[in-house]
Amino acid sequence: MKAIVYEKYGPPDVLQLKEVEKPIPKEDEALVKVHAASVNAADLEILRGTWAARFGGPLRPQHKIPGSDLAGRVEAVGSNVKQLQPGDEIWGDLSFPYGYGTFAEYVCVSENALVMKPASMTFEEASTYPQSAIISLQSLRDKGQIQPGQKVLINGAGGGMGTFAVQLAKYYGAEVTGVDSASKLNMLRSIGADHVIDYAQEDYTKSGQRYDLILDVVAYRSVFDYRRALSPEGIFLIVGGSLATFLQVLILGALISRMGSKKLGPNAYEPNNKEDLAFLAELFESGDVVPFIDRRYPLSEVPEAIRYLEEEPHLGKIVITMDHNNKT
Ligand SMILES: NC(=O)c1ccc[n+]([C@@H]2O[C@H](COP(=O)([O-])OP(=O)(O)OC[C@H]3O[C@@H](n4cnc5c(N)ncnc54)[C@H](OP(=O)(O)O)[C@@H]3O)[C@@H](O)[C@H]2O)c1
Repeated sequence: MKAIVYEKYGPPDVLQLKEVEKPIPKEDEALVKVHAASVNAADLEILRGTWAARFGGPLRPQHKIPGSDLAGRVEAVGSNVKQLQPGDEIWGDLSFPYGYGTFAEYVCVSENALVMKPASMTFEEASTYPQSAIISLQSLRDKGQIQPGQKVLINGAGGGMGTFAVQLAKYYGAEVTGVDSASKLNMLRSIGADHVIDYAQEDYTKSGQRYDLILDVVAYRSVFDYRRALSPEGIFLIVGGSLATFLQVLILGALISRMGSKKLGPNAYEPNNKEDLAFLAELFESGDVVPFIDRRYPLSEVPEAIRYLEEEPHLGKIVITMDHNNKT
């Protein structure tokens, strides 16, 4: 089969399209024919070998085939697989601990990572949800305890996760502020943001506004800046950003949270939660939360897709679409 393979950390150029052995499922695994796989900023961070990526592979990548979001069809199952059978259409998130590998024509994975895909969604649409939408949902609803009428701010609102987070916050009845680059602000208004901020023009932590819930996808500031931007009972959740900010929010944020009424901490994330994916499928069908696909690339152009994510102001998600009939 064809797969995108890398042997060392680096820029998208280290990714190569190669012919590799088609995997054989172990007893508790399914072999899935990949139809679509979306690209996440986390894929770029793992490729470049940022701090979080190096826990599993300090010197070189732990998993040779990248990619975590998956939508596809089960082709074969191991002898202990109970819930799936060949022909089932599934979606899932193959990030830690499920071994990645979705930038390939086929992948073998534990059945625990796979959930039946709603028939109403295309494979491309389905591939955008497993990581970005689940993190947004669990952060806002579970850890963030979002309530109608609250002032909620999403920083990084125009990217893969943010476009889901804005729609979810609106669904829960919040007054939503979306922060991103100028070219994305009209789109943020069109998906329901009540207020928008161009991050190049205004620092949301210094505007004097106070928010009940902040979900920050690209957090690079001091924990004290975030505390200032919260209302007296406000909650700040970090999803992505710098290691320094993450550690500050983890350690100092825990202390601040214990001493006062403002809460600061990392987001919640339980991948492949069946009830949450079913709930997101309902929101897709009702039109309340839909994916925004900026561009589609074939498997051979994964390096270009990741370069686009890194260098261009992409809107929402970028999807890798497999063409199983075209073998070139
Ligand atoms: N905690 C977890 O469990 C977990 C799991 C997976 C991923 N993540 C993290 O989630 C993060 C975001 O993922 P994603 O896929 O949504 O990324 P994404 O698609 O690249 O979206 C990020 C958005 O932030 C915008 N942005 C860049 N700099 C900004 C700034 N200073 N202020 C405001 N907005 C800014 C980007 O716009 P421009 O490009 O136009 O500037 C882009 O629209 C990644 O860091 C990833 O590691 C966390």
